[in-house]
Amino acid sequence: MALVQEVKERLDIVEIVSGYVPLQKAGRSFKAVCPFHSEKTPSFFVFPERQTWHCFGSCGSGGDVFAFVMRREGIDFGEALRRLAERAGIAIGSERRGGAEQDREARLRDANEVGAQFYHTLLVGSPTGAAAREYLAGRGMARRTVQDFMLGYSPESWDALGSHLRERGYEDEELIAAGLVMRNEETGSIYDRFRGRLMFPIRDDRGRMVGFGARALDSSEPKYLNSPQSALFDKSGILYALDRAREAIRREGRAVVVEGYMDALAAHEHGIHNVVASMGTSLTERQVRLLHGMTHNIVLALDADAAGDEATLRGIEVVRDALGEEVVAERTRRGLRHYRRSSEIEVRAMVLPRGKDPDEIIREDARLWGELVEKALPVTDYIFQAIAGRFDLASAAERSRAAEELLKAVGALDDPVQQAHYLQRLARLVQVDERTLQERLRAMRREGRRLRQARGEESPAPAPERERDLLEEFCLAVLLRNPELLAEPHDLAADDFLRSENREVFLGLTEADLGLQDLLGAGLGDHLEELISMQLPAMDAGLSRRALADVVARLHKRRLQQMKAQEGFLLAEAADGAEESTRISFSRWRSGPVSGKEEIDHLVELQEKGMELNARLKEVFQRLDRKTRTAEVDSNG
Ligand code: UTP
Ligand code: MN
Repeated sequence: MALVQEVKERLDIVEIVSGYVPLQKAGRSFKAVCPFHSEKTPSFFVFPERQTWHCFGSCGSGGDVFAFVMRREGIDFGEALRRLAERAGIAIGSERRGGAEQDREARLRDANEVGAQFYHTLLVGSPTGAAAREYLAGRGMARRTVQDFMLGYSPESWDALGSHLRERGYEDEELIAAGLVMRNEETGSIYDRFRGRLMFPIRDDRGRMVGFGARALDSSEPKYLNSPQSALFDKSGILYALDRAREAIRREGRAVVVEGYMDALAAHEHGIHNVVASMGTSLTERQVRLLHGMTHNIVLALDADAAGDEATLRGIEVVRDALGEEVVAERTRRGLRHYRRSSEIEVRAMVLPRGKDPDEIIREDARLWGELVEKALPVTDYIFQAIAGRFDLASAAERSRAAEELLKAVGALDDPVQQAHYLQRLARLVQVDERTLQERLRAMRREGRRLRQARGEESPAPAPERERDLLEEFCLAVLLRNPELLAEPHDLAADDFLRSENREVFLGLTEADLGLQDLLGAGLGDHLEELISMQLPAMDAGLSRRALADVVARLHKRRLQQMKAQEGFLLAEAADGAEESTRISFSRWRSGPVSGKEEIDHLVELQEKGMELNARLKEVFQRLDRKTRTAEVDSNG
């Protein structure tokens, strides 16, 4: 692969840009105050899917990650390439970084890297590694995979790795912090954490060493011993094999998440490179976020035995909700609460044949794996099916219990269209008519509300999401009919559109490198057609201009209100965070600096922002007021 391409594939523009400017999520993209010209409202956007950035403000610049770094650092292309390649861990020429200026974390990572190399050498080339080699051969693992993933063997010794690393100048304290050795509290001496195990080096999404998973070669417990949780190794924020999967995930537009190291390895060995492992725990929001910049399609491979478990189902819902596209905050009596709605990320579930790991399936029949991935169900379908599967639908009593359970699941959906769809399916499944079910659902809601009220935790239900947004659609319809208005000064931005389909249409209209043509490819053809054929009152150019100005003002007002609500939520969250971290830093002050300062700074910043927002809101309201009054005067007079 060409170097430039390789660097781009390995780096995430969001990560790079956020090293320079704080990015804020905005729908599918991220926004910030433009670093290239001075402005108050963010009009600088980063698009993870296209790996590009664009400023919609007065500087109007844009491009890829290289363009950003060149411009920001004031360097030429060659220099940008050199720096970014280094960041991506791709060597150009014979440069090496000196150890002296590396920070502590980098040093701990390096200790792990040296450890991985040490264990690997023992596995592939020493008599000590024989049993582990046999074990791997017995499981059908190719030598190539052992090499690619640098698998290793930790010898049955108390200080093999420790002394190896000490010889290389690492202090005991560093080795402990790196999670490689432990201290005997009584004698004070240190000893290797991993002994007599098969070693799986774990790397972050950029391929940097963070820790190990270590499997016992026999049935002793624990089966896997992992590096301890630390700043370096945080299991909940890592997906095993992601560094090697990211390119395929981007290319194929889909990521498959399995549980085990062995499962991910089997997949990669068989040329299935879009697979990562969650390392046994159910997927966390942070793990989902790692994938988010690469794809919006996540497939979870679920073990048949656990597939219908409450815990599994809940875990799936976490994933589905982790990246809500629209975030709406709502005030409740007990403070602020957060509602999310997510349609931007599609999570599907594939259920594995009973008693089989992905590892076994792939090794036996890689084609079956492909079929199972293709057949994965949208999670709601899957949850529906899993619940229904628990009941014997031939019995009337069980049917009605199934209906009750499924109604709860349907009631939890926040998209009314989806809700209607599943209600229909439920009606067929339990042979009860839809209206009856609808009434039952309403009754359940009332009952739930009554209970919550009784417990004093009632919250106003989140405003029902309208399926269409007439304000936005009207705005776009006017623009589609009068595109010349876009050439005139206007302060409409992509973010004024809350619904992503409308946002995309707006971008299609305004962004040079996108274009309406692309919307057809993105499946938005129908929507575009609807907008174009929308009934509008007869308007001449002047009237269109005024109509547009009016609708833009309304969109702004709404956006500000929404921002206000979000700020309120963030403020409350930050306050919680600050309180929490202060508490932690007191209780753990011995074990090192856990700073609450960051949170407090954040809180202050939010408060300032809140004040600024208030001022802006007031301004907009006044402007609108004046306008309405003028309009009234106009029509009365
Ligand atoms: P599995 O038991 O399915 O592991 O646990 P596996 O990778 O398929 O290993 P084999 O096939 O039995 O050799 C799934 C994952 O859960 C984590 C590991 O990440 C493992 O890969 N796990 C499991 C632990 O962290 N600790 C354990 O004790 C067990
Ligand atoms: Mn397994």
